[in-house]
Amino acid sequence: MHKITLIPGDGIGPEVVKPALDIIKTAGVKIAWDSHLAGTEALKKHGTTIPRALMDSFDKTKVALKGPVTTPVGEGFSSVNVELRQTFTLYANLRPIKNLPGVKARYQNVDLVVVRENTEGLYSGIEHEVVPGVMESLKIITEKASTRIAKFAFEYARKNGRKKVTAVHKANIMKLTDGLFLDCARKMAQKYKRIAFSDIIVDNACMQLVLDPLQFDILLLENLYGDIVSDLAAGLVGGLGLVAGANLGEHHALFEPVHGSAPDIKGKGIANPSAMISAAIMMLHHIGERAAANRIDAALEKVLWRGDCVTRDLGGTATTKRFAEAIIKEIER
Ligand code: NAI
Repeated sequence: MHKITLIPGDGIGPEVVKPALDIIKTAGVKIAWDSHLAGTEALKKHGTTIPRALMDSFDKTKVALKGPVTTPVGEGFSSVNVELRQTFTLYANLRPIKNLPGVKARYQNVDLVVVRENTEGLYSGIEHEVVPGVMESLKIITEKASTRIAKFAFEYARKNGRKKVTAVHKANIMKLTDGLFLDCARKMAQKYKRIAFSDIIVDNACMQLVLDPLQFDILLLENLYGDIVSDLAAGLVGGLGLVAGANLGEHHALFEPVHGSAPDIKGKGIANPSAMISAAIMMLHHIGERAAANRIDAALEKVLWRGDCVTRDLGGTATTKRFAEAIIKEIER
């Protein structure tokens, strides 16, 4: 029996987490879930956005499955996601971007992986008011974190038969910070002669991705560019409802959909559970439940390919519940 920390999140979080849990159960994987509130819900009940019990649970289980959590814009508490990533040094954010069968998208045969540095950059949260009317936010880039994420990208390429790593930066303007990031990537590339390396300025990278995403294999980015470019990349293959990500550290791993809490569709029962289910599939691979992961993957792909039981964002009319039931039926077949 696996013990795993569960963070259902808020907004559409609980709506997409429930089907993922039902599907894992149907696939026969026995998991004792240790469920915890985070964000606004936790603040209301426990007076803090990340309760101690959640931290302790994740520290112990080392694996977490997480739904999206709302972060207020402007004022209010800081991001639960950023805090979890920094506290547990979940330094690598891995987001595979691939077309799914039957899903209409702007491009076909896209198969790229976004590797995002997850702990520093402009997400370091060091902001202050210099004088009234002037705010300052510090972008922290360290040799240690840049080397660590570059190594992760090349190792991922080596282990997964990938051919090329492209570092995305703005070192022409941010010569010291992005310059260091790029320098670390270049140095790491020297150690992996069989994997091609190139670099590209982030604005050009966005245009190139929209023109021809098939030219990319692994994209290596610092935190902010990684956040933005991975949403852009999700759009290339059909949208945010489909793409999942892993937040990986030396000891801990947290799996979640790329999308947020989608307040505009909260409570309507129409959220696409695919990204959450894909996050669960990544988690099952991580804990060694490969057969179950592959069965769920095949069932999800079949239902998407048939297209008669999918949610509105994919052009269907099904509710989240019906979509999930169709996947469960496929697994039970
Ligand atoms: P969002 O990803 O929640 O929504 C963007 C658009 O995509 C909306 O139109 C939404 O309806 C749609 N969408 C997202 N997921 C969907 C799904 N599963 N099925 C169908 N449609 C879906 O991004 P937004 O609105 O910028 O952020 C809302 C909140 O979520 C914010 O507080 C933000 O901070 C938080 N957020 C949390 C994340 C996390 O917990 N990892 C990641 C991204 C945002």
